Amino acid sequence: MKQTSFNIKHYSFLLVCTLTMMVVLSAFLWLSPKSELIKDDFTVAEKQYSELLKTSTDLTRFPRTINQDRSLKSTDIKDWTQGFFAGNLWYIYEYTKNPEWKTAATKWTEALEQAQFLTQHHDIGFVMYCSYGNAMKFEKDPKKLEQYRKILIQSAESALTRFDPKVGLIKSWNEKKSWDKKTTWKYPVIIDNMMNLELLCYVSKITGNPKYKNAAISHALNTMKNHFRPDFSTYHVVDYSANGKVLHRQTNQGYADNSTWSRGQGWAIYGFTMMYRETKDKRFLEAAQKAADFYLNNPNLPKDKIPNWDFNEGQKGYTPDWDYEARKLSYIPRDASAGALVASALIELSTFSKDSKKYFKPAEQMLQSLSDSTYLAKPGSNSGFILKHCVGSYPHNSEIDVPLIYADYYFMEALLRYQKIKE
Ligand code: GLY
Repeated sequence: MKQTSFNIKHYSFLLVCTLTMMVVLSAFLWLSPKSELIKDDFTVAEKQYSELLKTSTDLTRFPRTINQDRSLKSTDIKDWTQGFFAGNLWYIYEYTKNPEWKTAATKWTEALEQAQFLTQHHDIGFVMYCSYGNAMKFEKDPKKLEQYRKILIQSAESALTRFDPKVGLIKSWNEKKSWDKKTTWKYPVIIDNMMNLELLCYVSKITGNPKYKNAAISHALNTMKNHFRPDFSTYHVVDYSANGKVLHRQTNQGYADNSTWSRGQGWAIYGFTMMYRETKDKRFLEAAQKAADFYLNNPNLPKDKIPNWDFNEGQKGYTPDWDYEARKLSYIPRDASAGALVASALIELSTFSKDSKKYFKPAEQMLQSLSDSTYLAKPGSNSGFILKHCVGSYPHNSEIDVPLIYADYYFMEALLRYQKIKE
């Protein structure tokens, strides 16, 4: 009897000790440097976006970047970046669960209602999925959910107006001249267009109608065939004939036709990772991994893994068709928007790849770099944006070394993905 009572006490003591250790360990893990980084970054995000909400009062003007005098530069509803502001508010809400952010996110999402009819370019996926797509995750009101659902279906219909089955791809832009002034693109498709496919996959899921996803798969397969070079770097623009023959491979936002525009490479990594998630087609996973390997193994990738705006600026063998000498700076600007989007893509890719660490570790390093004061704004500065040092389009002499709304979007998305993995 005596022995039994000793054992019970003994085991109870051990149980209490184990439970205490588990609580201490969980607290330690929660307060680990990783969580601290996410928490600190979202503290900055909250401060910065409170500021942006104060300066953005016109619901027809959507924050995008800054002017030369550092005042806020916004766009109208017809551009490609107007969905990111709402998306960013949804991400801050996702992290904080503070209903005030949901109110703001809902207001800025609903300000985009008319964009469901955008057909003059391919960017409707960016615009509507980053805003309404995120709203669908957090809205509880059935009436609103039904309204958002209809808007997303119409948005996918609008996207399909630019899909010609004879070509098998969504046309990115209407007829446009290339930098060489000799070439007119009739059916240009840019690597960025991979990002519009998520909307199509989503709408097939909510309607049960496969036509949207089938178009997305056709687009991704043709992009995989025609946009990659043998080393899995990417062309920015591929122009097609009316029956789907490749006519031109050039650039619009990169340094030269044969160079690798960093954000374009990022869109490829992200887009093919996402298409693998949606289809489980191994060819997409392989494309995503090879595009990521090109980025990560590139000798021109700086140590902090945030790329120069183009992997090949000023290098021998690369000749721009735009007036580079007139725009040349004394340094090669980085593009934190490319870094943020690649970090987000690599975190997701690490969950699919057999070689998980190969993609997760660099993503972690990129998040650390972006969380350093080199890139992360000091609260109260940077006109309310979170990240500094991005490039919109160097050849157009536009948005060079500035904050960009979509850099903030992919940065917060990456942090949230990072947090989910950690948990
Ligand atoms: N068209 C999207 C971009 O500039 O990356």
